[in-house]
Amino acid sequence: MNTPKKLFVKTYGCQMNVYDSERMVEALGVSGYVETSTPDDADMILLNTCHIRERAAEKVYSELGRFRELKEANPDLKIGVAGCVAQAEGQEIMRRQPLVDLVVGPQSYHRLPALEARTRLGHKALDTDFPEDDKFETLRHRPKAPRGPAAFLTVQEGCDKFCAFCVVPYTRGAEVSRPATRILEEARDLVARGVRDITLLGQNVNAYHGAGERADEGGDWSLARLIWALNEIDGLERIRFTTSHPNDMADDLIAAHRDCAKLMPYLHLPVQSGSDRMLKRMNRKHSAAEYLRLIERIRAARPDILLSSDFIVGFPEETEADFQQTLDLIREVKFGQAYSFKYSSRPGTPAAERAQLDDTVMTDRLHRLQALLTQQQREIQDSMIGRKVSVLLERAGRQTGQMVGKSEYLHAVHVTDDRLSIGQTARVRITGSGTNSLTGVLV
Ligand code: SAH
Ligand code: SF4
Ligand code: F3S
Repeated sequence: MNTPKKLFVKTYGCQMNVYDSERMVEALGVSGYVETSTPDDADMILLNTCHIRERAAEKVYSELGRFRELKEANPDLKIGVAGCVAQAEGQEIMRRQPLVDLVVGPQSYHRLPALEARTRLGHKALDTDFPEDDKFETLRHRPKAPRGPAAFLTVQEGCDKFCAFCVVPYTRGAEVSRPATRILEEARDLVARGVRDITLLGQNVNAYHGAGERADEGGDWSLARLIWALNEIDGLERIRFTTSHPNDMADDLIAAHRDCAKLMPYLHLPVQSGSDRMLKRMNRKHSAAEYLRLIERIRAARPDILLSSDFIVGFPEETEADFQQTLDLIREVKFGQAYSFKYSSRPGTPAAERAQLDDTVMTDRLHRLQALLTQQQREIQDSMIGRKVSVLLERAGRQTGQMVGKSEYLHAVHVTDDRLSIGQTARVRITGSGTNSLTGVLV
């Protein structure tokens, strides 16, 4: 038998890239690769990249430069770039960084074995097509290893929303939903391999509208219907989904937050800004008031839900008054968790043509926004002290006997108790609140 070749994959960007990296490892398994945790002795290095902000894209080039010595020491080493930078910049990557042998866009991962074979013949390989053949279908039958208790499962990909700042509609293409039966099959398979917590992924996951595979399996599946079907899977304990768009938050999905036992009380619902003027220029197609009304309805269905969001500060033409409206919205909602970014101009997007704000203004606003969000996160975390939560234990902690898992609300919780094991769901009373995690004791 041939000794396996070693594949090192480094993942940047969103959770969908995490899911995709796992699929790429499986795809290259047929070419004789096993995953390794260091680039040093790898036969192939794959960077799964993100193009969402300028800094994310530039990181890729600086990382690639660092592989020069490895390539000099081992001329057989192949270096590949996957993900959204690959899709957006294609051939340009090979021009800018001659170390790169392979460039593969997110819709072509099932073609990796063929692309890898081309590099072994001494050619450069590039595939940034949006092929007709279904990559999920091709990747479905690859052998899969047992795995930890929490997993991602991509159900929908691409985006038709075209927010004025965002590259995703260009790098991931049009919105496509996978058939519900395939998703359920993959979920059952994950559960058989030890998974207890599944996060359904999509760039617009709540716009999911999948078909059943055969006529008798029913026509249109909403995300809520899919969640209800997953709820029936024995051994699956928790269901989550991300990322949602406010305009696709359907009634049946809100109701599922009230009625579906396995659907966790956590919702990431990006709003971007609290100013209607900015929301309009961003092409978000919802107002601040509509967002607030939606939050009210979600909280009426599930009062304890923990809310999370994304914010962009310094979008072109944002004034201090616009920014204050964002702070007002944050004060009104109270978020348990949030991501916030300075606006970053992305080539090819409508907003890239507009005049940019001064960086010092953006930095100042970002700091003020983050101070408020951090304060809210702290308050909500601190309010957990004394409460009992269920913690799905995912891994060992740094200290001896310590385990780390997630609560229903997606808080990381540390528990030290030698009766615990990975994959177990423990009832825990929260006793402390740190910067980004909670501590608790078994009850
Ligand atoms: N709906 C998507 C959003 C992807 S991008 C999803 O599935 O996650 C994640 C976040 O990055 C966005 O919500 C937005 O807040 C931020 N973002 C996107 N483009 C950006 C840009 N050009 N500059 C700064 N932040 C941006
Ligand atoms: Fe980007 Fe907007 Fe689509 Fe989200 S909804 S992926 S921010 S275009
Ligand atoms: Fe980045 Fe692409 Fe995800 S740009 S955020 S990796 S969809």
